Amino acid sequence: MSVFMEKFFVTTPIYYINDKPHIGHAYSTIIADVLARYHRLKGEAVLFSAGVDENAQKTIHAAEAAGKDPTNYTQDMSDIWETTWQQVGITNDVFIRTTSPQHKAAVYELIKRVEAKGDISKGTYEGYYCVGCEAFKKEDDLVEGLCPDHKKKPEWLKEENYFFSLSAYQDQLLAHIEKNPDFIKPPSRRNEVVAFIKRGLQDFSVSRSTQKWGIPWPGDDAQVVYVWFDALVNYLTVTGFPNEQSARFWPADLHIVGKDIIKFHCIYWPAMLLSAGIPLPKTVFAHGFFTIDGQKVSKTLGNTIDPLELASTYGLDSLRYFLLREIPLGGDGDFSFERIARRYESDLAKGLGNFVSRVVTLASKTSEPLIPPLECDARIEVEKAWGQWSAGLEAYELDRSLDAIWRVISWGDKHIEEKKPWTLAPESAEYIHVIATLGEVVRQVGLLLSPFMPQTAEKITELLGIRKEASGDFQSSRQWGVEKFGTIEKGKPLFPPVS
Ligand code: MSP
Repeated sequence: MSVFMEKFFVTTPIYYINDKPHIGHAYSTIIADVLARYHRLKGEAVLFSAGVDENAQKTIHAAEAAGKDPTNYTQDMSDIWETTWQQVGITNDVFIRTTSPQHKAAVYELIKRVEAKGDISKGTYEGYYCVGCEAFKKEDDLVEGLCPDHKKKPEWLKEENYFFSLSAYQDQLLAHIEKNPDFIKPPSRRNEVVAFIKRGLQDFSVSRSTQKWGIPWPGDDAQVVYVWFDALVNYLTVTGFPNEQSARFWPADLHIVGKDIIKFHCIYWPAMLLSAGIPLPKTVFAHGFFTIDGQKVSKTLGNTIDPLELASTYGLDSLRYFLLREIPLGGDGDFSFERIARRYESDLAKGLGNFVSRVVTLASKTSEPLIPPLECDARIEVEKAWGQWSAGLEAYELDRSLDAIWRVISWGDKHIEEKKPWTLAPESAEYIHVIATLGEVVRQVGLLLSPFMPQTAEKITELLGIRKEASGDFQSSRQWGVEKFGTIEKGKPLFPPVS
């Protein structure tokens, strides 16, 4: 690996294992996967981490309900999460478990540094705790006495705990957010965090004395580390922290999180890092939620949808496309089976699939070599799309990149309608000119799709008869007209009717 190679380190939240993955989790994970694939295509060294958050109080409840001891339960559930991501085609480089010895070592090192800074003290926590959020709650966080996210009454705790001096970092955090406009994205979330900090930060409890599962507090076996104080450290563990090699990927370029956990990622986590003298991640990107009839999809609310089930009906790429399309940047998106069916039909079967199949059918009618013209409107269109595609991916505005791809598809459809190639003789120079142009547009659409819909991208390459081993690296193969088409035969539809 060249020392000058750019790196990109992207993370997903590590998920609780009290249930199996649902589409909300798949959403965060797929966003991270698209970005990891994009940065790999750019030729960068990528570290993409995913994993599970096992040391929570809810783990014990779930293990009890399953009639298993927590160690077996976490092993079984962790396997389910890891395999689900494999089945969904997620290309994470590491899968972190917070019950692993490496993670414990990283947590101890962080606590050692924070203690050395004088930021840990003993105190009494008396107040609410929501097991759904695994968070301490104040009276005014509740709506009619219930946690607004989980619709449950939190537990009342009174414990002797260790506390972290969060309040000491209020000014430094505000200064960092102001100096680094990319630290929290999108801007609506940044404003939310700034307003929260300005209301005043309070020290928080970082250990639990009544929880019997978790990482023992160093030097005090009567306490375990509070689950968030342990879980956030996973982002360092996966880089090899505290070993020197950690600097290869740390600081993280991007933490993908849902809007429910920004306080932990944009306030607690940077304060912990400031205290330990570790550089802060470059960006925390908070996305919105999938809702069902306006309610968050969650295990606690009992309205989950299995991503594998959806994928078995529509295919993995359609699942990816649907999830990325349905939530506008920063907002929420309501999930319904009708919407996924409509998107599949209009954007994929009739849009992308139909365009590719029309061009492939037309191309299969001639045996003349198809060499796309170097100067043409199609090339200008495609180059415009690449610009918008990259800008969207760089800004983590994936819908912008998808728009760019679908604009090329519409342009191609219009071009077919204008040129009416079916009125031309298949061996005529004009026919070949039109079809070579369209063939190249299809090839470029395949490349543009590759981080988003990798299987479809591959199928397009196959349909055009381009041998995989013949195609060069992504940067060179995206040059207009650079690849030779092979034998083009009408293939199966990319998005067949769903029964
Ligand atoms: N374990 C913590 C995260 C620790 S990270 C150091 C946690 N886990 S979780 O299992 O509850 O997953 C929360 C994350 O899942 C959300 O932040 C979000 O990224 C994703 N989603 C869960 N439900 C979701 C929706 N309904 N819609 C979109 N994303 C959602 O919090």
